[in-house]
Amino acid sequence: MDWGLRNRLSRVLRPEDGRTVMLAADHGYFLGPTHRLEDPRETLRPLIPFADALMVTRGVVRSCVDATAQVPLVLRVSGGSTVAGPDLADEVVTTAMEDAVRLNASAVALSVFVGSAYERQTLGNLARLVDRGLEVGIPVLGVTAVGKELEKRDARYLALACRVTAELGAHFVKTYFCDGFEAVVAGCPVPVVIAGGPKSDNERDALQVAYRAMQEGASGVDMGRNVWQSTHPVAMIRALRAIVHEQASAQEACDLFDELRQPGQRQVV
Ligand code: R5P
Repeated sequence: MDWGLRNRLSRVLRPEDGRTVMLAADHGYFLGPTHRLEDPRETLRPLIPFADALMVTRGVVRSCVDATAQVPLVLRVSGGSTVAGPDLADEVVTTAMEDAVRLNASAVALSVFVGSAYERQTLGNLARLVDRGLEVGIPVLGVTAVGKELEKRDARYLALACRVTAELGAHFVKTYFCDGFEAVVAGCPVPVVIAGGPKSDNERDALQVAYRAMQEGASGVDMGRNVWQSTHPVAMIRALRAIVHEQASAQEACDLFDELRQPGQRQVV
């Protein structure tokens, strides 16, 4: 890896422990103004100080994130299909690498839809994006997306998708936690972070997933809805940080969440 690329990657995966708590807030690119992300500026403001990196589109960066914010950007650069269209997997690259450079992105992120009708198209998107990233020293996060087919989240499928994504040159991979997750990580030669998926019934469940993922080899989390759709988003991201960076158990993280969500603690920054 070239120096610039390694340096950018180290802004996302913290050099002290190689781990990260990314905050995913790119959902508007296919979901529109989804619940609690109607106004990204308001949602993100109290959370940014606790995020190791922020995953958003260029539209949200420019309109909703202060340019002086000291948070590395993982810029979502794929899209083109929405929940209203025929197939979420039909994605193209939506942002030029030059714009990622202009925005001082620490990494760019693109979804691949392995096993879908758009497998070849989205894997081709990834390969070309890696080539462009290498030219300018920007690492690529490959996101193994499943669209609406949530049943695809089993270890056999995710191990295939993660490995293929790494083989095509992604510098780190984002996927889902699943039973047998250890094998997914073991078969992937680059760091793996997990998405949270739809908001869990309670924060304890999401913290438990994060804890299990870290125990089974994840390099961090890139969660969105389970943070900003929580009634106490700041407490939630701080509890996640305890798991990822401070070796907290799931129970310790739950206790921290309970403590931080007490009146007066809610917006502690
Ligand atoms: C996936 O590609 C989305 O754009 C999100 O970044 C991802 O799903 C993570 O967010 P959540 O934790 O809400 O699933």
